[in-house]
Amino acid sequence: MFTEPPNFVGRAEAIAHLNTLAQQGAKAIVIQGEGGLGKTTLAQHYLQSQGFEIVLELLMAKEIQNVTPRRTGRRRMAQT
Ligand SMILES: Nc1ncnc2c1ncn2[C@@H]1O[C@H](COP(=O)(O)OP(=O)(O)O)[C@@H](O)[C@H]1O
Ligand SMILES: [Mg+2]
Repeated sequence: MFTEPPNFVGRAEAIAHLNTLAQQGAKAIVIQGEGGLGKTTLAQHYLQSQGFEIVLELLMAKEIQNVTPRRTGRRRMAQT
């Protein structure tokens, strides 16, 4: 879950496009673009505005050094 991004500005066209896709019945929407363009912020802002009771955010590691190897993860869990 997450909170509304502070100081959100603009993106009226993108939000209108998301609304259109949702109204057309889209079950999954991909927002593509270079890093830092505002994809995550747009998605968070849009989902927050939809009145859902619960929104789950699944963050995925994009850099190999941020991925925890499966064996390491298991060992760490066993230690706790
Ligand atoms: N519409 C917006 N209004 C204000 N700040 C924004 C907006 N979109 C992005 N930002 C800011 O720009 C930075 C990058 O946005 P982010 O959503 O993380 O980009 P991306 O997911 O495309 O890499 C963040 O610090 C974010 O707060
Ligand atoms: Mg992002």
